[in-house]
Amino acid sequence: MNRTIDPSVVPINRPRALAPARILGIESSCDETAAAVIENGRALHSNVVASQIDLHAQYGGVFPEVASRQHIRTIYAIVDQALHQAHLTLADVDAIAVTRGPGLAGSLVVGINMAKGLALGRNLPIVGVNHLEGHIYSAWVYPAGENPTAEPQFPLLALLVSGGHSELILISGHLQYRRLGGTLDDAAGEAFDKVARLLGLPYPGGPSIQKASEEGNPKAFQFPRARLEGSWDFSFSGLKTAVLRLVRQFEDDRRPLPVADLAASFQAAVVDVLLTKTVKAAQTFQAHQILVAGGVSANRALRQAFLSQSDFHVHIPKLSLCTDNAAMIAAAGYFRFAHGQRDPLDIDALPTWPLS
Ligand code: KG4
Ligand code: ZN
Repeated sequence: MNRTIDPSVVPINRPRALAPARILGIESSCDETAAAVIENGRALHSNVVASQIDLHAQYGGVFPEVASRQHIRTIYAIVDQALHQAHLTLADVDAIAVTRGPGLAGSLVVGINMAKGLALGRNLPIVGVNHLEGHIYSAWVYPAGENPTAEPQFPLLALLVSGGHSELILISGHLQYRRLGGTLDDAAGEAFDKVARLLGLPYPGGPSIQKASEEGNPKAFQFPRARLEGSWDFSFSGLKTAVLRLVRQFEDDRRPLPVADLAASFQAAVVDVLLTKTVKAAQTFQAHQILVAGGVSANRALRQAFLSQSDFHVHIPKLSLCTDNAAMIAAAGYFRFAHGQRDPLDIDALPTWPLS
C-alpha cells in the first residue's frame, strides 16, 4: 500500500495550488463500462473499458435496458481490474470520481451506486463529474511513466463532438466554461450513425463511415454545408436528408449504391463544417489553442483536417481516449477534487446536465 506520490509523474506545469491526488474514475453513462486510475489529473496508471458494442449492434443502436443490465454484470470486475493494473488498492486512492450525467439514467445509476458503495466502505470522498467535462479533460491525460504531453493552455476553444453532443465551448480556465453553441438537431456522431444506417453500414456508424470512406472520393457528391452564419450552432439534419434523397434516387433507378463515395462525401461535409466554425470561433474569441474531443474526434479525416491547419495549436486526445472511458472522468474529477468539490453520498444521476 503505497500512499506516496511518485514525483516523476507530477506535471511540471501543474499549478502549485493544486494538491497531488490519485483518483479512481468510474464511467457508465452509455454503453461502455469503464474504470481508471489517474494521478494529478494527468498521469494515467490504468484504463479499463468494457464495450457493449457487440450486444447493441443487433439493435442498430444502444438499447438502454440491455445497457444497464450489462453495466451491473461487469462493473465490479472492471473497477477491480483498473486497480489491479495500476498495482494499487483502494487504500492508495484519495477520491472516487464518477459520471453523474448526461447519459442514460439506468446506466448512470450503476456507476454512481458502485462509487457510493466503495466510498462508504472505504470512507472516501465522491466527486460527481459531467461526462462532457470528462471528454474535455481527456486532452490532459498521458500514460504514467512517459513524458508528459504539453498541457492545454487557456483560453481554449473546445469542439466537443460525440454521439449526443456537438458543442463549441470557450474555456477560460480550469472548470470555467462558456457554451457558445451546439447542434440544433442531430449531434455529429448521431449524424454519422444515422447516415451509416442509410448506407447499410454496421453500428457504430462513425468507424464504419470512416472505413468505407477510405475507398471513396470525398468530392464525388457536393453535400450541403449548413454554415448558420451569425451563430455558433451546428445543424446536420439537412445533410442527412440530402444523403437520404440520393440513396432513394439510386434505389429508384435500380443503380448500385456508391457507398464509398457517399460516405467520403458525407464525411468531408461534416469535417468541413466543424473545422471552419471552430477556427472562426477560436479567432473571434481570441482563444490561445483549440481542443477537439468526444467520440467523433477519433475520426481520421477530422484529425487530419484540424492538425493540418496552421492558425492554432490543436489538442486531440489519443484514439483510445476519444470514445467513452473513465480516464477522462478521473482527470476531470481530479481538477474538481483539487478545487474542493466533495459530493454527498446521496448524489443522484443527472440524465440531462448542460456543462456550465
Ligand atoms: O463520446 P462517445 O464514445 O459517446 C458519447 O458520449 O456519445 O461518442 C460516440 C460517437 C458515436 O456516434 C460514434 O459513431 C462516433 O462517436 N465515432 C466516430 C468515430 N468513432 C466513434 N465518428 C466518426 N469517426 C470515427 N472514427
Ligand atoms: Zn462520450
